Amino acid sequence: RIVYVNGEYLPEEEAKISIFDRGFLMADAVYEVASVLDGKLLDYAGHEARLARSLGELEIPMPASPEEILEIHRQLVTRNGVEEGAVYMQVTRGAADRDFAWTADMTPSLVLFTQAKAIVASPMAQRGSKVISLDDLRWHRRDIKTTQLLYASMAKMQAKAAGADDAWLVEDGKITEGTSNNAWIVTKDGVLVTRQLSNDLLAGITRASLMRYAAEAQISVEERAFTVEEAKGAAEAFVTSASAFVMPVVEIDGVKLGAGSPGPVATRLREIYVEESR
Ligand code: PDD
Repeated sequence: RIVYVNGEYLPEEEAKISIFDRGFLMADAVYEVASVLDGKLLDYAGHEARLARSLGELEIPMPASPEEILEIHRQLVTRNGVEEGAVYMQVTRGAADRDFAWTADMTPSLVLFTQAKAIVASPMAQRGSKVISLDDLRWHRRDIKTTQLLYASMAKMQAKAAGADDAWLVEDGKITEGTSNNAWIVTKDGVLVTRQLSNDLLAGITRASLMRYAAEAQISVEERAFTVEEAKGAAEAFVTSASAFVMPVVEIDGVKLGAGSPGPVATRLREIYVEESR
């Protein structure tokens, strides 16, 4: 694979970052994952805008112009021949002698790489994902897409140990989001429910696109928080993310939703998302 690091395209074995980089020492870094379908980037404008917002919230300077960053995405997709998968981009505050305080004059690091992966023909989309609910023990600025992913990783491991695929995180009795996706339920009346945006969750780009597509298909969406109990009693559930698109959820804490297989609404929304993206 050819990767990008601070102005250079290099074979992955040759790419290097300083051990003093605050991304490495302190997770002082933000990232984006943009999916690739048929060799094209999906929802790129949304990822570009969210990167700028995450950087702004942390006072990390933009590492390059938006045009340059888009060009790097395109170059990597082409050079690595990615038809389906994702481009991962990370910006760190840069390297400095270790200190909790940072200074305004640091030079940010920019790293990008591609991951080829079948998203449309994913086996999990056929059988549906099983989730368990866990306390949301992450920090309270989940609206910033930082690389502090340790609790999300621990929650995912706990889900796997319990024989499930992923975890839905719960705070004050309500679901915030999945470990790396936004959580949705479908009520018995066919209304889609997903939590309203705040500092408690990430403003998913896939979530925003699906809300537009649902409106076009005249499917109602309610933006509000919901409890684990409501989710267990829902007709269907699913998650959205750049790496999974629309993924049906068929079981919550061992309770099957409907027939325990992907429901008609989630299945249709997945098809709509892929069609609209093509
Ligand atoms: N995760 N919530 C969290 C905590 C996420 O990490 C993600 C994305 C989402 C969905 O956002 P989007 O639709 O913009 O991908 C919601 C990426 C894919 C990841 O960490 O790999």
